[in-house]
Amino acid sequence: KMKQFIDGLMGKMTQDEKIGQLNLVSVGFDVTGPVVSKDVDANIRKGLVGGVFNTFTPVAIRKLQEMALKESRLHIPLMFGYDVIHGHRTIFPIPLGLAASWDMAAVEQSARIAAEESTADGLDWVFSPMVDIARDARWGRIAEGAGEDPYLGSRIARAMVRGYQGPGNDLTKDNTVMACLKHFALYGAAEAGRDYNTTDMSLQRMYNEYLPPYKAAVDAGVGSVMSSFNDVNGTPATGNKWLMTDLLRKQWGFKGFVVTDYTAINEMMEHGMGNAAQVSALALNAGIDQDMVGEIFLKNVADNIKSGAVSKAQLDAACRRILEAKYKLGLFQDPYRNVSAQRATSTLMKPEFIAAARDIARKSMVLLKNERNTLPLKKTGSIALIGPLANRQRDVIGSWSGAGDWKQAVSVEQGLRAAAPGLKITYAKGANIADDAQMLERLNAHGGELELDKRSSDDMIREAVQVAQGADVVVAVVGESQGMTGEAASRADIGLPGQQLALLKALKATGKPLVLVLMNGRPMTLPWENQNADAILETWFAGTQAGHAIADVLFGAYNPSGKITATFPQVVGQVPLYYNHKNTGRPFGGEKLDKYKSRYLDVSNEPLYPFGYGLSYTTFSYGKPTLSKTTLAPTETLEVKVTVQNTGNYDGEEVAQLYLRDLVGSISRPVKELKGFQKVMLKKGESKTLTFRLAPDDFKFYNNDLKFVAEPGDFKVFVGGNSRDVQEASFKLAAK
Ligand code: IFM
Repeated sequence: KMKQFIDGLMGKMTQDEKIGQLNLVSVGFDVTGPVVSKDVDANIRKGLVGGVFNTFTPVAIRKLQEMALKESRLHIPLMFGYDVIHGHRTIFPIPLGLAASWDMAAVEQSARIAAEESTADGLDWVFSPMVDIARDARWGRIAEGAGEDPYLGSRIARAMVRGYQGPGNDLTKDNTVMACLKHFALYGAAEAGRDYNTTDMSLQRMYNEYLPPYKAAVDAGVGSVMSSFNDVNGTPATGNKWLMTDLLRKQWGFKGFVVTDYTAINEMMEHGMGNAAQVSALALNAGIDQDMVGEIFLKNVADNIKSGAVSKAQLDAACRRILEAKYKLGLFQDPYRNVSAQRATSTLMKPEFIAAARDIARKSMVLLKNERNTLPLKKTGSIALIGPLANRQRDVIGSWSGAGDWKQAVSVEQGLRAAAPGLKITYAKGANIADDAQMLERLNAHGGELELDKRSSDDMIREAVQVAQGADVVVAVVGESQGMTGEAASRADIGLPGQQLALLKALKATGKPLVLVLMNGRPMTLPWENQNADAILETWFAGTQAGHAIADVLFGAYNPSGKITATFPQVVGQVPLYYNHKNTGRPFGGEKLDKYKSRYLDVSNEPLYPFGYGLSYTTFSYGKPTLSKTTLAPTETLEVKVTVQNTGNYDGEEVAQLYLRDLVGSISRPVKELKGFQKVMLKKGESKTLTFRLAPDDFKFYNNDLKFVAEPGDFKVFVGGNSRDVQEASFKLAAK
């Protein structure tokens, strides 16, 4: 039926109208590149626009859609997209925080709510999930993904697609939205953690470590894919036929359409891939279907066809894929997808969504340290609330929260005051987050609205110390501003910026218990902080309800259960640092004087906090894992049982993690790989025996011929509460 309909429509289309479908224009505010779309209305009327992004609300969408339907020759509806990354109006924690919940139901729910809200605001399409594996904390966009692990990243990719597109991928429903898998591919491996930079990677690493989350989203039925900005092994992703056609469509069977990132085709001229006509042909021939903002298809495809650089068939294929997406969205039946002011009012930020945002935010927080039960805090006595982020509403919603209204977000100060009216809270800023004017200007260029406190650093610290001296406990809310993370926000120093560390040192000298509430979008280097603070709570940028959620955790209404999904290094020089690394021929086992080992002279190989790490107000102990078999046939499933006990004084949730090591392989294998996890609630004193099942595919990897195989031999299974502190058992995989 779809084919027949689209054949009929394409039969009536001129070549220019077909090229028009390949054109995605930006109307509105969020400009993330040097080019802005012009003549949009005129182009819509001429049938030269396929989709629009950066605008929403029923009124704005209706106006543009009406223009396309009433004033263009063939009345083809437009498709409306937007960067809905961690919520639309109701903002959830940044994706790196969401991942730290290890709670797939929560992840899916956040995307479901984003779908409800974005469709009510007239949108058809969201530029999410971002599933780029990232092992380099310098890269600002590590905030937007699930961290360093391909298995967890794949589970999250699936949960997000399901949340946006609904369980059956039925996009004709008025509350399902088309997802866009991004950034294809390997954007998170940009050299030196510098945004938009080159990636050069072996195929084994790609297939085993970086590609799985993209493939998982494709397998889950994601409707569209966005090409990435970076070069991949010599050809920018946007012109990379191997990626866009051979891998994505032929090997993985992707049936949707591919849109570029913002002006990414034009940028191939800077990459040195030729002039406008050449890069336009390169992209279309590679398998790109839609050009975001660049208008390079609009200006070049006709000439490319004339010169023979691209075929009419290639144009038809791209145009067909865009029309198919519109068909699947039901836009030819109801181009407005039931959008109305009334629906928007009753949907956007409704109480259930706000309640979910608070709950999910609490689940995302990670307790990194808690000496002498400093946390939870009492609701009596007095608190010195210190730090440049303590009263910030703008920052708590994080980067890429375009439609989120930060004025409706809850700051830490607001949250603490609401939760504990009987507590005396005195605030002092203590330090600027950014204290050099240039950095501030860069941060504020995109609406960060950070103000520079003009007092000297000494004066600010002095005031904070005075406040601290008069209180029972110091709660210091420190970290990065939201603009220091996300796109184009790579940092070479990933410690606390500005004078915040100096502030903490002065606060420590008061002798008062020191609680750090961290707000940041990446693993940071926190050696002094880890040594000297009494408690550290990682809160990321927790979204609309951040302040309430933080108060819930600090006062113990919620027992923290999050675990980090990207390794925190001790110093930035260890980066890239990740748990699932290979061994070397000279592994370093911690010996004092052994020089010729794979190590640094000035720092150990250990992270500050390992992947999967996070504490609770209670404690958990793990028994030894037991296996259903010690020799396994390749078709069999291995059952791993482990007993986990809550040995502390609070009820709490634990994320039990299972890792595998394949000891000998035809290619070298990682020292550990996550293959399963379970988040369980255990009452004080309670123990539960958990069963993990490892299916035949869990033992497989891509070998030198890129065949997905399991090789017979010895394996180890590890189970524990993080990737470092584990107990192990062994088994053999038999040849037959
Ligand atoms: O979706 C984003 C992408 O992640 C980065 N460049 C701009 C796109 C659209 O805003």
